Amino acid sequence: MSRDFGSRTYMPRQGTSTRAALQTGSTQWRSASDVATDPSDVLAAHRVALEPYYKTVADEVDLYEAAYSVRMPMMLKGPTGCGKTRFVEYMAWKLNKPLITVACNEDMTASDLVGRFLLDANGTRWQDGPLAVAARHGAICYLDEVVEARQDTTVVIHPLTDARRVLPLEKKGELLQAHPDFQIVISYNPGYQSLMKDLKQSTKQRFGALDFSYPEHEVEAEIVAHESGVAMDVSKKLVHIGERARNLKGHGLDEGISTRMLIYAGSLIAQGVPALAACRVALVRPITDDPDMRDALDSAVTTYF
Ligand SMILES: Nc1ncnc2c1ncn2[C@@H]1O[C@H](COP(=O)(O)OP(=O)(O)O)[C@@H](O)[C@H]1O
Ligand SMILES: [Mg+2]
Repeated sequence: MSRDFGSRTYMPRQGTSTRAALQTGSTQWRSASDVATDPSDVLAAHRVALEPYYKTVADEVDLYEAAYSVRMPMMLKGPTGCGKTRFVEYMAWKLNKPLITVACNEDMTASDLVGRFLLDANGTRWQDGPLAVAARHGAICYLDEVVEARQDTTVVIHPLTDARRVLPLEKKGELLQAHPDFQIVISYNPGYQSLMKDLKQSTKQRFGALDFSYPEHEVEAEIVAHESGVAMDVSKKLVHIGERARNLKGHGLDEGISTRMLIYAGSLIAQGVPALAACRVALVRPITDDPDMRDALDSAVTTYF
């Protein structure tokens, strides 16, 4: 389940009320200029206060720490719902660095990342975008699902990813030198790759990459049990169903059932929903509209429940 560990996600081009609602009751994303009177407070809303639950799958924690120590830009690759976002939240907590997350979308412009002049009663004032806030004050900036952004938006990160570590704020006429703690991280689902939607080679080659996939059986069952509150015997059954569905990927299914979906199913079961209904709602119906594929998945469910 998505939990609020204290860090904020910035969703460009969302109504303010939607944005606030998405943040599970927490305060809205704040810009540098909103809190300009106390610069030490700029990143307060972005600190990961509580240790996020993250189960290490391989050597990703050590590798990421080494990458951070040389401020290598990192790319987290893998299917949706397999733990990329949770991993970066955990690493930000472990490294004790603030985390600014940007959910990328195709309407996002370079100004949404970098910043813009705003009109207010006193005239115009500059407002740093989330990338500029992270670079100026020293946060980890996580661009989630970066291929969703248009390529002309993505290129603004280039000068931050080479030795110069600068961000040109062209409209403001400032060349922003990144803070020593700043790091950029992107996530990317290679499954959605198409000629229209892919990262340019010139972007890809600026990053180190960590591959993520669904954890092996026991580990995934532990995660599902922990996050949903179901007993291990139930979560193992859910993971079996997930594995069956993943084998159908490319044979009628575009994506397998993710860890996130298994957690949803487990959460419904933990709420008292009968297992068959929970699996239908959380696992089978969302991923396919094809009647034959639904039958195949339903029968996988009835094998275990
Ligand atoms: N290794 C892991 N340790 C702990 N929780 C995990 C792990 N992998 C996946 N999860 C769970 O799965 C959910 C979905 O993962 P998330 O990080 O949101 O996926 P992604 O960003 O890859 O789409 C998380 O909210 C978390 O509950
Ligand atoms: Mg994510």
